[in-house]
Amino acid sequence: MTARVVMKLRVEAARLATPGVLHLTLVHASRPELPAWEPGAHVDLRLPDGRIRQYSLCGDPQDRRTYQIAIKREDAGRGASRWAHDALVEGAVAHVSAPRNNFPIREAARHVFVLGGIGVTPGLPMARSLAAEGADVAVHFCARSAADAPLLAELSAACGDRLSTWFSAEGRRFDPRAIGPYSEGACLYVCGPQRLLDAVRDAADALGWPETSIRAEAFQATLDENFKPEPFEAKLASTGATLHVPADRSLLEVLRDHGVTMPSSCELGVCGSCVCGYRDGVVIHRDAVISVADRQDRIAPCVSRARVSVTLDL
Ligand code: FES
Repeated sequence: MTARVVMKLRVEAARLATPGVLHLTLVHASRPELPAWEPGAHVDLRLPDGRIRQYSLCGDPQDRRTYQIAIKREDAGRGASRWAHDALVEGAVAHVSAPRNNFPIREAARHVFVLGGIGVTPGLPMARSLAAEGADVAVHFCARSAADAPLLAELSAACGDRLSTWFSAEGRRFDPRAIGPYSEGACLYVCGPQRLLDAVRDAADALGWPETSIRAEAFQATLDENFKPEPFEAKLASTGATLHVPADRSLLEVLRDHGVTMPSSCELGVCGSCVCGYRDGVVIHRDAVISVADRQDRIAPCVSRARVSVTLDL
Protein backbone atom coordinates (compact mmCIF):
# COMPACT_ATOMS: atom_id res chain seq x y z
CA MET A 1 0.00 0.00 0.00
CA THR A 2 1.39 3.43 -0.91
CA ALA A 3 1.73 5.91 1.93
CA ARG A 4 -1.56 7.76 2.18
CA VAL A 5 -2.94 9.59 5.15
CA VAL A 6 -5.53 7.48 6.94
CA MET A 7 -8.18 9.42 8.83
CA LYS A 8 -10.65 8.33 11.45
CA LEU A 9 -13.99 9.48 10.11
CA ARG A 10 -17.29 9.28 11.95
CA VAL A 11 -20.40 7.95 10.25
CA GLU A 12 -22.74 10.92 10.44
CA ALA A 13 -25.52 9.25 8.46
CA ALA A 14 -26.11 5.74 7.14
CA ARG A 15 -29.08 4.91 4.94
CA LEU A 16 -30.00 2.30 2.39
CA ALA A 17 -29.96 3.94 -1.04
CA THR A 18 -31.49 0.73 -2.42
CA PRO A 19 -32.19 -2.55 -0.58
CA GLY A 20 -28.56 -3.63 -1.23
CA VAL A 21 -26.61 -0.36 -1.26
CA LEU A 22 -25.52 1.44 1.90
CA HIS A 23 -24.99 5.18 1.50
CA LEU A 24 -22.68 6.71 4.10
CA THR A 25 -21.98 10.31 5.02
CA LEU A 26 -18.62 10.60 6.77
CA VAL A 27 -17.19 13.55 8.73
CA HIS A 28 -13.92 14.12 10.54
CA ALA A 29 -14.24 13.70 14.27
CA SER A 30 -12.51 17.00 15.04
CA ARG A 31 -11.67 18.93 11.86
CA PRO A 32 -14.20 21.04 9.99
CA GLU A 33 -12.75 20.26 6.57
CA LEU A 34 -11.63 17.10 4.81
CA PRO A 35 -8.93 16.95 2.09
CA ALA A 36 -10.15 18.30 -1.24
CA TRP A 37 -11.00 15.94 -4.09
CA GLU A 38 -12.07 16.03 -7.71
CA PRO A 39 -14.87 14.12 -9.46
CA GLY A 40 -13.86 10.53 -10.16
CA ALA A 41 -11.75 10.21 -6.99
CA HIS A 42 -11.97 7.31 -4.56
CA VAL A 43 -10.92 6.64 -0.99
CA ASP A 44 -9.56 3.48 0.58
CA LEU A 45 -11.62 2.03 3.42
CA ARG A 46 -9.49 0.01 5.81
CA LEU A 47 -11.12 -3.05 7.30
CA PRO A 48 -10.41 -4.27 10.86
CA ASP A 49 -8.35 -7.18 9.46
CA GLY A 50 -6.11 -4.81 7.50
CA ARG A 51 -7.66 -5.41 4.10
CA ILE A 52 -8.48 -2.37 2.00
CA ARG A 53 -11.42 -1.68 -0.26
CA GLN A 54 -11.84 1.28 -2.56
CA TYR A 55 -14.99 3.34 -2.88
CA SER A 56 -15.64 6.26 -5.19
CA LEU A 57 -16.65 9.53 -3.61
CA CYS A 58 -20.20 10.19 -4.77
CA GLY A 59 -21.00 13.47 -3.01
CA ASP A 60 -20.20 17.05 -3.96
CA PRO A 61 -16.52 18.14 -4.08
CA GLN A 62 -17.63 21.63 -3.01
CA ASP A 63 -18.79 20.16 0.28
CA ARG A 64 -15.52 20.01 2.19
CA ARG A 65 -17.20 18.90 5.44
CA THR A 66 -18.35 15.44 4.35
CA TYR A 67 -17.38 12.51 2.17
CA GLN A 68 -20.11 10.32 0.77
CA ILE A 69 -19.61 6.75 -0.38
CA ALA A 70 -22.02 3.97 -1.37
CA ILE A 71 -21.28 0.31 -0.71
CA LYS A 72 -23.06 -2.52 -2.48
CA ARG A 73 -23.58 -5.59 -0.32
CA GLU A 74 -21.98 -8.62 -2.01
CA ASP A 75 -23.19 -11.66 -0.09
CA ALA A 76 -21.01 -13.94 -2.24
CA GLY A 77 -17.95 -11.72 -1.79
CA ARG A 78 -15.06 -11.98 0.64
CA GLY A 79 -16.87 -10.25 3.48
CA ALA A 80 -15.78 -6.63 3.17
CA SER A 81 -19.14 -5.27 2.10
CA ARG A 82 -21.00 -7.42 4.61
CA TRP A 83 -18.78 -6.03 7.36
CA ALA A 84 -19.39 -2.46 6.18
CA HIS A 85 -23.16 -2.92 6.04
CA ASP A 86 -23.24 -4.42 9.51
CA ALA A 87 -20.61 -2.29 11.29
CA LEU A 88 -20.79 1.17 9.76
CA VAL A 89 -23.85 2.43 11.57
CA GLU A 90 -24.36 6.03 12.65
CA GLY A 91 -21.66 7.03 15.13
CA ALA A 92 -19.22 4.28 14.09
CA VAL A 93 -15.65 5.14 13.12
CA ALA A 94 -14.32 4.33 9.65
CA HIS A 95 -10.61 4.38 8.76
CA VAL A 96 -10.46 6.15 5.43
CA SER A 97 -7.55 7.34 3.30
CA ALA A 98 -7.17 10.73 1.66
CA PRO A 99 -8.72 10.68 -1.83
CA ARG A 100 -6.89 9.67 -4.97
CA ASN A 101 -8.15 10.09 -8.52
CA ASN A 102 -7.49 7.35 -11.09
CA PHE A 103 -10.57 8.27 -13.12
CA PRO A 104 -10.46 12.03 -13.78
CA ILE A 105 -12.63 13.97 -16.21
CA ARG A 106 -10.83 14.38 -19.50
CA GLU A 107 -10.69 17.42 -21.74
CA ALA A 108 -13.27 16.51 -24.37
CA ALA A 109 -15.72 18.06 -26.80
CA ARG A 110 -18.44 15.66 -25.69
CA HIS A 111 -18.73 13.37 -22.66
CA VAL A 112 -20.80 10.18 -22.81
CA PHE A 113 -21.25 8.12 -19.64
CA VAL A 114 -22.52 4.57 -19.29
CA LEU A 115 -23.09 3.77 -15.61
CA GLY A 116 -24.20 0.35 -14.42
CA GLY A 117 -25.68 -0.07 -10.93
CA ILE A 118 -23.14 0.89 -8.26
CA GLY A 119 -20.96 2.22 -11.11
CA VAL A 120 -22.99 5.39 -10.69
CA THR A 121 -20.76 6.42 -7.78
CA PRO A 122 -17.84 8.01 -9.68
CA GLY A 123 -20.10 9.03 -12.56
CA LEU A 124 -22.48 11.12 -10.45
CA PRO A 125 -19.98 13.83 -9.38
CA MET A 126 -18.32 13.77 -12.82
CA ALA A 127 -21.60 14.24 -14.69
CA ARG A 128 -22.84 16.80 -12.16
CA SER A 129 -19.70 18.88 -12.55
CA LEU A 130 -19.81 18.75 -16.35
CA ALA A 131 -23.53 19.53 -16.47
CA ALA A 132 -23.01 22.53 -14.17
CA GLU A 133 -20.32 23.83 -16.55
CA GLY A 134 -22.73 23.50 -19.46
CA ALA A 135 -20.57 20.84 -21.12
CA ASP A 136 -21.96 18.55 -23.80
CA VAL A 137 -22.73 15.49 -21.68
CA ALA A 138 -25.01 12.45 -22.05
CA VAL A 139 -25.53 9.87 -19.29
CA HIS A 140 -26.91 6.35 -19.64
CA PHE A 141 -27.76 4.71 -16.31
CA CYS A 142 -28.51 0.97 -16.31
CA ALA A 143 -30.06 -1.04 -13.47
CA ARG A 144 -32.59 -3.81 -12.96
CA SER A 145 -35.29 -1.35 -11.93
CA ALA A 146 -35.66 2.18 -10.62
CA ALA A 147 -35.86 0.77 -7.10
CA ASP A 148 -32.49 -0.94 -7.63
CA ALA A 149 -30.80 2.15 -9.08
CA PRO A 150 -28.67 3.79 -6.38
CA LEU A 151 -28.50 7.60 -6.30
CA LEU A 152 -31.04 7.84 -9.11
CA ALA A 153 -32.71 10.95 -7.67
CA GLU A 154 -29.35 12.72 -7.30
CA LEU A 155 -28.27 11.78 -10.83
CA SER A 156 -31.58 12.87 -12.27
CA ALA A 157 -31.44 16.22 -10.44
CA ALA A 158 -27.89 16.80 -11.68
CA CYS A 159 -28.40 15.78 -15.29
CA GLY A 160 -32.04 16.53 -16.14
CA ASP A 161 -32.80 15.60 -19.72
CA ARG A 162 -29.18 14.62 -20.33
CA LEU A 163 -29.99 11.40 -18.42
CA SER A 164 -31.38 8.24 -20.08
CA THR A 165 -32.40 5.42 -17.77
CA TRP A 166 -32.40 1.76 -18.76
CA PHE A 167 -34.24 -0.58 -16.37
CA SER A 168 -34.32 -4.16 -17.64
CA ALA A 169 -37.11 -5.36 -15.34
CA GLU A 170 -39.24 -2.49 -16.61
CA GLY A 171 -38.83 -3.45 -20.27
CA ARG A 172 -35.92 -1.14 -21.14
CA ARG A 173 -32.79 -3.25 -21.36
CA PHE A 174 -29.71 -1.18 -22.17
CA ASP A 175 -28.72 -1.18 -25.82
CA PRO A 176 -25.01 -0.27 -25.96
CA ARG A 177 -25.52 1.22 -29.43
CA ALA A 178 -27.30 4.08 -27.64
CA ILE A 179 -23.88 5.66 -27.09
CA GLY A 180 -24.09 6.71 -30.73
CA PRO A 181 -21.29 7.06 -33.26
CA TYR A 182 -17.96 8.60 -32.31
CA SER A 183 -17.61 12.33 -32.93
CA GLU A 184 -14.27 14.15 -32.99
CA GLY A 185 -12.94 14.86 -29.50
CA ALA A 186 -15.58 12.83 -27.63
CA CYS A 187 -14.82 10.78 -24.51
CA LEU A 188 -16.72 7.69 -23.37
CA TYR A 189 -16.68 6.78 -19.67
CA VAL A 190 -17.94 3.34 -18.64
CA CYS A 191 -18.34 2.35 -14.98
CA GLY A 192 -19.93 -0.89 -13.90
CA PRO A 193 -19.57 -4.66 -14.00
CA GLN A 194 -17.20 -6.24 -16.49
CA ARG A 195 -19.96 -7.59 -18.73
CA LEU A 196 -21.25 -4.03 -19.21
CA LEU A 197 -17.74 -2.80 -20.00
CA ASP A 198 -17.29 -5.60 -22.54
CA ALA A 199 -20.65 -4.91 -24.22
CA VAL A 200 -19.99 -1.18 -24.43
CA ARG A 201 -16.46 -1.69 -25.76
CA ASP A 202 -17.81 -3.98 -28.51
CA ALA A 203 -20.48 -1.43 -29.47
CA ALA A 204 -18.00 1.45 -29.31
CA ASP A 205 -15.63 -0.43 -31.58
CA ALA A 206 -18.41 -0.99 -34.12
CA LEU A 207 -19.43 2.68 -33.88
CA GLY A 208 -15.95 4.00 -34.58
CA TRP A 209 -14.87 5.02 -31.06
CA PRO A 210 -11.06 4.83 -30.87
CA GLU A 211 -9.68 2.86 -27.93
CA THR A 212 -8.00 6.04 -26.68
CA SER A 213 -11.37 7.79 -26.35
CA ILE A 214 -12.70 5.22 -23.86
CA ARG A 215 -12.20 5.32 -20.09
CA ALA A 216 -13.46 2.27 -18.24
CA GLU A 217 -13.66 1.49 -14.54
CA ALA A 218 -14.65 -2.03 -13.54
CA PHE A 219 -16.63 -2.47 -10.37
CA GLN A 220 -15.94 -6.12 -9.88
CA ALA A 221 -13.12 -8.51 -10.55
CA THR A 222 -13.24 -10.53 -13.74
CA LEU A 223 -11.36 -13.51 -12.49
CA ASP A 224 -12.25 -16.74 -14.22
CA GLU A 225 -12.82 -19.45 -11.61
CA ASN A 226 -11.74 -22.11 -14.13
CA PHE A 227 -8.33 -20.50 -14.61
CA LYS A 228 -5.55 -22.91 -13.65
CA PRO A 229 -2.43 -20.98 -12.57
CA GLU A 230 0.93 -22.39 -13.70
CA PRO A 231 4.31 -21.62 -12.16
CA PHE A 232 6.62 -19.23 -14.00
CA GLU A 233 9.83 -17.25 -13.58
CA ALA A 234 9.96 -13.47 -13.09
CA LYS A 235 13.24 -11.66 -13.74
CA LEU A 236 13.97 -8.21 -12.31
CA ALA A 237 15.51 -6.00 -14.99
CA SER A 238 17.39 -3.85 -12.46
CA THR A 239 19.28 -6.65 -10.72
CA GLY A 240 18.93 -9.65 -13.02
CA ALA A 241 17.51 -11.68 -10.12
CA THR A 242 15.14 -14.46 -11.17
CA LEU A 243 12.21 -15.24 -8.86
CA HIS A 244 10.16 -18.42 -9.01
CA VAL A 245 6.40 -17.82 -8.85
CA PRO A 246 4.65 -21.04 -7.77
CA ALA A 247 1.15 -21.85 -8.96
CA ASP A 248 -0.39 -21.01 -5.60
CA ARG A 249 1.25 -17.57 -5.15
CA SER A 250 0.63 -14.31 -6.97
CA LEU A 251 3.47 -12.45 -8.64
CA LEU A 252 2.82 -9.58 -6.23
CA GLU A 253 3.23 -11.86 -3.21
CA VAL A 254 6.49 -13.30 -4.56
CA LEU A 255 7.89 -9.84 -5.28
CA ARG A 256 7.14 -8.81 -1.71
CA ASP A 257 8.63 -12.04 -0.34
CA HIS A 258 11.86 -10.98 -2.00
CA GLY A 259 11.85 -7.49 -0.55
CA VAL A 260 10.52 -5.64 -3.59
CA THR A 261 8.31 -2.83 -2.31
CA MET A 262 5.12 -2.81 -4.35
CA PRO A 263 2.11 -0.53 -3.87
CA SER A 264 -1.27 -2.23 -3.96
CA SER A 265 -4.81 -1.67 -2.92
CA CYS A 266 -7.59 -3.87 -4.32
CA GLU A 267 -5.42 -6.92 -5.12
CA LEU A 268 -8.23 -7.88 -7.49
CA GLY A 269 -6.93 -6.31 -10.68
CA VAL A 270 -9.33 -3.38 -10.68
CA CYS A 271 -7.53 -0.40 -9.14
CA GLY A 272 -4.22 -0.10 -11.01
CA SER A 273 -2.12 0.57 -7.87
CA CYS A 274 0.30 -2.31 -8.44
CA VAL A 275 0.74 -1.95 -12.21
CA CYS A 276 4.35 -2.00 -13.43
CA GLY A 277 6.19 -2.39 -16.73
CA TYR A 278 7.41 -5.63 -18.31
CA ARG A 279 9.32 -6.83 -21.37
CA ASP A 280 10.37 -10.12 -22.89
CA GLY A 281 7.50 -12.38 -21.92
CA VAL A 282 4.01 -13.59 -22.70
CA VAL A 283 1.72 -12.21 -20.02
CA ILE A 284 -1.66 -13.70 -19.11
CA HIS A 285 -3.56 -10.51 -18.32
CA ARG A 286 -6.33 -11.05 -15.75
CA ASP A 287 -6.94 -7.46 -14.64
CA ALA A 288 -9.74 -5.10 -15.58
CA VAL A 289 -7.77 -1.89 -15.47
CA ILE A 290 -5.01 -1.88 -18.12
CA SER A 291 -6.07 -0.79 -21.60
CA VAL A 292 -5.57 -3.09 -24.56
CA ALA A 293 -2.82 -0.82 -25.92
CA ASP A 294 -0.98 -0.73 -22.59
CA ARG A 295 -1.07 -4.51 -22.23
CA GLN A 296 1.95 -4.68 -24.52
CA ASP A 297 4.19 -3.51 -21.70
CA ARG A 298 2.17 -3.15 -18.46
CA ILE A 299 1.17 -5.87 -16.01
CA ALA A 300 -0.94 -6.00 -12.82
CA PRO A 301 1.08 -8.43 -10.67
CA CYS A 302 -1.71 -8.89 -8.13
CA VAL A 303 -3.68 -11.07 -10.58
CA SER A 304 -1.76 -11.45 -13.84
CA ARG A 305 0.80 -14.13 -14.61
CA ALA A 306 3.17 -15.13 -17.38
CA ARG A 307 3.74 -18.14 -19.58
CA VAL A 308 7.12 -19.61 -18.63
CA SER A 309 8.88 -16.30 -17.86
CA VAL A 310 8.69 -12.53 -17.89
CA THR A 311 11.15 -9.70 -17.27
CA LEU A 312 9.78 -6.92 -15.09
CA ASP A 313 10.86 -3.27 -15.27
CA LEU A 314 11.65 -3.29 -11.58
S1 FES B 1 -3.64 -3.94 -6.45
FE1 FES B 1 -5.30 -3.16 -7.58
S2 FES B 1 -4.80 -3.75 -9.61
FE2 FES B 1 -3.29 -4.71 -8.44
